[in-house]
Amino acid sequence: MRSYFVETWGCQMNVLDSQRLEGVLQARGLCPAARAEEADVVLLNTCAVREKSVQKVVSRLGELRRLRDANGLPRVVGLCGCVAEQDGEELLRRLPVVGFLLGPGHVEDLGVALDAWEDGQRARRTGFDAPSFDPGLIARPDSARQFVTVIHGCNQRCTYCVVPRTRGAEASRPMPEIVAEVERLARHGAREITLLGQTVNAYRCPTTGADLAQLLHAVCGVAGLWSVLFITSHPRYFTPRLLRAVGELPTLGTYLHMPFQAGSDRILRRMARGYSRGRYLDVVARLREARPDLSFSTDVIVGFPGEGDADFEETLRLVEEVRFGQLYGFVFSARRGTAAAALGDRVPREVAKARIERLFAVQGEIQLALNRALVGRVVEVLVDGPSRRGAGRWQGRGRDNRVVNFDGWAGLTAGQLIRVEIIGASAHALLGRAAGTPGGGERPLPA
Ligand code: SAM
Ligand code: SF4
Ligand code: F3S
Repeated sequence: MRSYFVETWGCQMNVLDSQRLEGVLQARGLCPAARAEEADVVLLNTCAVREKSVQKVVSRLGELRRLRDANGLPRVVGLCGCVAEQDGEELLRRLPVVGFLLGPGHVEDLGVALDAWEDGQRARRTGFDAPSFDPGLIARPDSARQFVTVIHGCNQRCTYCVVPRTRGAEASRPMPEIVAEVERLARHGAREITLLGQTVNAYRCPTTGADLAQLLHAVCGVAGLWSVLFITSHPRYFTPRLLRAVGELPTLGTYLHMPFQAGSDRILRRMARGYSRGRYLDVVARLREARPDLSFSTDVIVGFPGEGDADFEETLRLVEEVRFGQLYGFVFSARRGTAAAALGDRVPREVAKARIERLFAVQGEIQLALNRALVGRVVEVLVDGPSRRGAGRWQGRGRDNRVVNFDGWAGLTAGQLIRVEIIGASAHALLGRAAGTPGGGERPLPA
């Protein structure tokens, strides 16, 4: 039987797209290989968000150039994802190793691209002319955590970002289709569902007009779910109805990812983010009012063109004020074709590096303090499996998405829900021990 290997870079949307690519391959009778070197078909599902991500793809293609099958013939290497969309034509011209291009709008054309390759042609399936999405064609991992896309693409025009071009215009999926998919996943053992979209709270059902608040009510009503999360939220789209839903739905997890990108209004304007520092803080306050136990996570860009010391201090002050549970920080990367790439006042690399190190140091202290405050509590944890940190240790995550490493017992399984007493904390994880004994400490699954 022919085999495949899919390498995935980038965000959760790409993780899900890789499952879609695998779905197509499995429907054609291919089976997964353990390594790229052993596979007949190798797919790189790529990310274009920063220049460095693209360079990594190019160097990986350089390594894969040498792959041959037992007869000395080249293996199929498909370039998929956001780099295929953004830089695919150029890479196809420059690098003979690239067998075909498949952009995020054409995942399900993989079969067509493979057929073309067998006929000696290098297919290019990019653009968003006729995007298709078949929820029945996803090779779902055997996991209690599952992703479900609710809105494709992005209509924002943040001046630094390639995503609107690599993922196309916003398109929400019909709510009945999403709910049916979640019901199917819950019947097959899913306990946590994460609804995905670049601006997930801009969701609007194309048939019923339902918004994210209505979708959350429907999804949280699906039997068997322990937690429902939604990422990524944009501060512009928190309506009073959505704020109420966050407060009313106990099945919603307490983790909320809402990037602020910069703490200074001047830089936010240059980024065209569409909100001010004050508006961001106001949304955080309203969300906390609705749901006091929320743990916020965020993305920050450091060294955006024109960012001065005073602007950066405002970013630090915002981090100290909100006290995020998690923070993803990035040094600005000028991306070809974006408006920010043409802006003057570039911040020198070493200045941006020093700033991001300061940001991480400040955030590290906040995270450590927040995690330490949880010592002594008993939290619910969805088990992911044995921890890499040693024999007898398990790993899972709580409803706030915090990683918990804990002592359990042999016979625990991934997907089980248990109660864990927190006995220690670092900046990045909690340490605990399963409360009670086998059987006694185990919480029954929700009906
Ligand atoms: N849709 C999300 C939002 O609006 O916040 C973000 C999606 S983007 C794929 C993930 C993160 O990458 C962004 O939040 C931003 O912090 C970072 N990012 C995007 N473009 C970047 C660039 N040119 N340089 C550095 N970081 C960038
Ligand atoms: Fe990029 Fe902005 Fe869209 Fe997020 S909202 S994907 S940062 S353009
Ligand atoms: Fe990267 Fe594309 Fe996601 S650029 S972050 S894989 S949308």
